[in-house]
Amino acid sequence: MPHKIIIDTDPGIDDAMAIAYAIAHPDIELLALTTIFGNVRTHEATRNALALLEHWGATADVAEGESAPVAITANEPGYLVHGRNGFGGVEIAASSRPAHDLDAAQYMIEATRRHPGEITLCAVGPLTNLARALERDPDIVSRVKAVVVMGGAVHRKGNVTPVAEANFWNDPHAADAVLGAGWPLVLAPLDCTMPVLFTPDYMEAVARENPKLGKPLSEMAAAYSRFYRSHLGLGGCVPHDVMAISWLTVPGAFRLQKGALAVIADGPAIGQCIFQPGGTKSRATIFDGRPDHLVMVDTDPALFLADFMAVMTRHAA
Ligand code: BDR
Ligand code: CA
Repeated sequence: MPHKIIIDTDPGIDDAMAIAYAIAHPDIELLALTTIFGNVRTHEATRNALALLEHWGATADVAEGESAPVAITANEPGYLVHGRNGFGGVEIAASSRPAHDLDAAQYMIEATRRHPGEITLCAVGPLTNLARALERDPDIVSRVKAVVVMGGAVHRKGNVTPVAEANFWNDPHAADAVLGAGWPLVLAPLDCTMPVLFTPDYMEAVARENPKLGKPLSEMAAAYSRFYRSHLGLGGCVPHDVMAISWLTVPGAFRLQKGALAVIADGPAIGQCIFQPGGTKSRATIFDGRPDHLVMVDTDPALFLADFMAVMTRHAA
């Protein structure tokens, strides 16, 4: 049975890579993209989601999400990293298809009622929509098959402040609510994403083998890589959001640790994800009553890269 998934996303260059991988994978049924602010504003994320699906001939629903965080004032979108259009300036023609009538949170609620125990929510942007869904219908925790979240940094530093990762920093209250809920959740933090680099040669090979999916991604990656070179001195770009999908299809590429998670919601450490490994105790009361979740703490880059290439090029030639 294919994995039925909903990707909650702020496209975004690495979001586009994750969406392409989900479309290409024979064992994934992409039901919908639900949209959120982060790399761009929410209405821009909806436009980008619809445009990508049309460009790649996919018919998944698109449901628009929240336009502001649960409790803080919205941060500026990540235009510096993803470009003003979210795709590093690469033009993807707009679609005339409208978004779904339901908003993102309601879409998740209704879809999991229709397919109880079957849907995995793959969240690769700020977690506002998932927090709203939990608030409106707490029973959703028992209807999802799983939740996979790209966000946070557990044993390493942040990417927007010394301690915070962008998705959690953009809505720390939502992130804390989602990580504190009793659904089966797997976290894909920077620990598992930063060891992987898409180099220009690698992306050009994807584009050569499968121009339809790969060419726009390779062009976007070139823009994304300029940010990684100038800010981190890296010779490529990090495909963060793909990890949240690859967990379903190539779980052997990741090393896991189990434990309780929480997110700091104010002060200088706002957005920081803190982790207490299972079986250990501390005097931090923040973890009291919190469930243990799985955390992807490291990646085998060779395995991950081989799988991504194989999936993206399987229909080529
Ligand atoms: C996360 O933030 C966004 O910029 C990326 O799309 C990814 O979801 C990485 O910190
Ligand atoms: Ca994202």
